[in-house]
This record gives sequence, structure tokens and C-alpha cells, in this order.
Amino acid sequence: MMKLNSKLIILGISAVASSALFFTGCFASNTGVNKTAEKSLTKDGTATSAYNPVKDAIDGGVTYKRENGKYTAYHINEQPTTGVNFGRAPTPNELKAWDTDIMPDGTGLPIGSGTVGEGEELYDKDCAVCHGEFGAGGKGYPTLTGGSIASLKNQRTCPGKDAPNRTIGSYWPQASTLIWYIRDAMPYANPKSYTPNEMYAMTAYLLAENGVKMEGEDIEELNQDNFKKIVMPNRNGFYPDIDGANGVENVRAFFAEPKNFGAVGTRCMTNCGKETVSKIGNEITAVVPAYSTVRDLPKVDPNAKPVSEAEKMYEKSCSVCHKTDNMGAPALGNKNAWATVMEQGLDRVNHNAINGIGGMPPKGGAMDLSDEQVKDIVKFMVESSK
Ligand code: HEC
Ligand code: HEC
Repeated sequence: MMKLNSKLIILGISAVASSALFFTGCFASNTGVNKTAEKSLTKDGTATSAYNPVKDAIDGGVTYKRENGKYTAYHINEQPTTGVNFGRAPTPNELKAWDTDIMPDGTGLPIGSGTVGEGEELYDKDCAVCHGEFGAGGKGYPTLTGGSIASLKNQRTCPGKDAPNRTIGSYWPQASTLIWYIRDAMPYANPKSYTPNEMYAMTAYLLAENGVKMEGEDIEELNQDNFKKIVMPNRNGFYPDIDGANGVENVRAFFAEPKNFGAVGTRCMTNCGKETVSKIGNEITAVVPAYSTVRDLPKVDPNAKPVSEAEKMYEKSCSVCHKTDNMGAPALGNKNAWATVMEQGLDRVNHNAINGIGGMPPKGGAMDLSDEQVKDIVKFMVESSK
């Protein structure tokens, strides 16, 4: 039998907030393996000392070298493989980097502590610009405080004051979701930037602002031990409770109650909506365009010009919204959008970038940027969009 010289390639693409794509493949020969790709892993899959595993690791538990403020392409994993050579078992380190859940029972909680006071300072610096003073929301960004449990039973179809008012305090059944969310997704433009102490401080502050108590007392400080004592107000608000010995009975009782089906209290069994769903397909029959069968690495351009400071700052603080126009922001490279923006004149545009306008928070929420730095970034954005 032919002996295949196989090398594993691990590719991870980190996308906004928390979505990521992970692919482990196997190559049948050396052809197509980019010789410039660097070896970044030792045999057991841990990082070599050239890279800082904390700073350089992105989703996937693989270390990537950064050049010019950007992650470089893939790195070859020299770990030997056996058998059919389709991938390999992930190393414990890789699993650890992927399994980032923080569970209601406390599994995954970071070690640390933080007070409500510390959280308040952080909040004013990092979050208020979008979520408003005391989490009151604003400019289309979610409200983090207030809300009422009673409102949760209102029908979605009544917008405005009758709509369900879902906030951390009124809706979230578990505090573990909050600290996990803060750790993985916020601050919006710079997620995963908090230390464990900052995560606890921010969680403590937001829970306190929501009036959540711990064993009847106001929350003052949170850490990995007392965290598990938090009981969220809406802990039992999710129906039906399918856990435990009464699970089946709970489900029956829930579905026997007509009010659970609509404001009018009648159950609809036929022709309830304008259109009836006849069939929901769950089979993928064709993929268009077809999956690529090319097994090659992206070309690295050795003559690529170095990335400017302004572009680095743009990537860090602005690209999360300006990469596409999904957020309603003029997208980088969109000539028409930027031509319209620039009709106001550069001074006005700079002013808006610094002070905010509509859904654009002051300095994009990156309050550590100086006015001059924001102007440099705007210049870069304008020039990249001509
Ligand atoms: C640049 C604007 C911005 C900043 C700054 C920001 N957020 Fe957010 N935040 C958002 C957006 C947008 C969403 C909604 C994201 C989504 O639904 O995908 C959100 C959602 C949230 C949610 C979930 C709300 C819900 O009910 O679903 C929490 C909690 C949160 N942010 C906390 C924070 C904290 C804590 C900070 C500061 C460390 C922060 N945010 C800073 C824009 C921001
Ligand atoms: C949270 C999302 C978000 C982030 C982060 C963000 N922007 Fe924006 N930006 C927007 C939105 C939305 C608009 C459109 C605002 C409008 O016209 O209502 C906008 C508009 C702009 C405009 C045009 C202003 C005008 O006068 O029409 C400039 C310039 C700009 N952003 C620069 C920046 C810079 C520089 C950064 C990073 C420091 C940044 N943005 C980060 C969402 C964002």
C-alpha cells in the first residue's frame, strides 16, 4: 500500500463576536502545501515559544502568527497521524480553547473577583456609549436593565409599550449566560479583551443595576465561589419545565392551557395563518456553488505593502461595523456611500466620527482613541473608498 505523507492543516476564521468556522483536513501529498507557512505547533499541539498562546490563539486553539496586525495564513501541524489519516483527535489544549461555555452549575467560570463599583467605572468607559447610562439603552442598542417579568406574557404582535420587555433582569434565566456573553462578545468592537476580574466586576454591576439579589442581599462583589448563589428573577420563567420527574406533566399542563397559544385564548388548528406551511425540507440535495475540491493554501504576497497604523486601528475598533453595510454604516470601499458622506465636508465627517451620529457611537465606542487618531482612521477609510 502506498504510504501517504500527510500533514494536517488547521484553519480557524474568527468572526464577529462568537461565530467561527473550524476545519481539520488531511493532505495526501506535499503538493499545494505552501512552503512559506510556518510551523507553529509542537508535536503535542501546544504552541512553540515563538508565539504567545494567549495573544496569538484565535478560535480553534491553534496559534497563528501575527504580522502587520493581522493573523497570517495557516500553519502546518506536524503531529503524526495513523490509520486513515482523516484528521486527528483534538489535543486537550485545542478542546479547551473551543469549549468556552460557562454553565449554570459554574462549570467554566474564570477564577477572579470584581466589585459593583469597579464594574460601574468600566461600564461608563466601555459600554455606556452604546447601551446608555445605567444600561437604559438607546439609539437602537439593547436595553440592559429594567423590564418586567409580567410583560413577557404580552403578545409580540403589539409593538410599543405592550411588547415583552426582555432585559437581563426580567428575562435571562441564568447569570452564567451574562458573564459568558460579556467575556465572548463585549465590548462590541473589542470582544474578549476583559480580564476575569473585569468580567466579574461588569457582571456584578449589571446584576446590581437590575436589582438582582444574592441570598436576599444586594450584590457587592462577585467571584467564582459566590457566583453560583445567584438566582435570576426569571429562573423559572421558561415553560414548560421539562426537567425532573414532573417533566411530562408540566408539558401536558402547558399545552392544555389555551392562553399559551394567543391573546384571544383559542387554539388554532387549521388555516391559522395566511399561508400554510406544507412541508419543511430538511435535506440538502445540492450545494450551489459546489464545494471546492481544490486543496491549496492562500497565496501570501511577499510584496504586500505594510499595514498602516490607521488601518490597524480601523481593524481593531471600526471594522466590526464598517466591514459591510449590515449595521447601516458606510462600508469600507463603498464608493457611493462614502461620496455621499463626504458631501458634508471632511470637518463635519470627522466631527461625526468623534462625537457619534445615529447608530455610530462616539469614536465607534473606542473611547481610548484620541481625536487625532480618529481623524487618521477616517482619512484611511475615505481614501480606501475612492
Ligand atoms: C459599539 C457599541 C457597543 C458597545 C460599546 C457595547 N455593546 Fe453590548 N451590544 C451591542 C450590540 C449591537 C448588541 C446586540 C448584539 C446582537 O444582538 O447581536 C449588544 C448586546 C449586548 C448584550 C446582550 C443584550 C441582550 O439582551 O441580548 C449585553 C449583555 C451587552 N451587550 C453588554 C455589553 C457590555 C457589558 C459592554 C461593555 C463592556 C458593551 N455591551 C459594550 C453594542 C455595544
Ligand atoms: C457599533 C458600530 C460602529 C462602529 C464600531 C463604528 N461605526 Fe462608524 N458608523 C456606524 C454607523 C451605523 C454609521 C452611520 C451613521 C448614520 O449616518 O446614521 C457610521 C458612520 C460613520 C461615519 C460617517 C459619518 C457621517 O458623517 O455620515 C464615519 C466617518 C465613521 N462612521 C467612522 C468610524 C470610525 C473612525 C470608527 C472606529 C473608530 C467607527 N466609525 C466605528 C457604526 C459604527
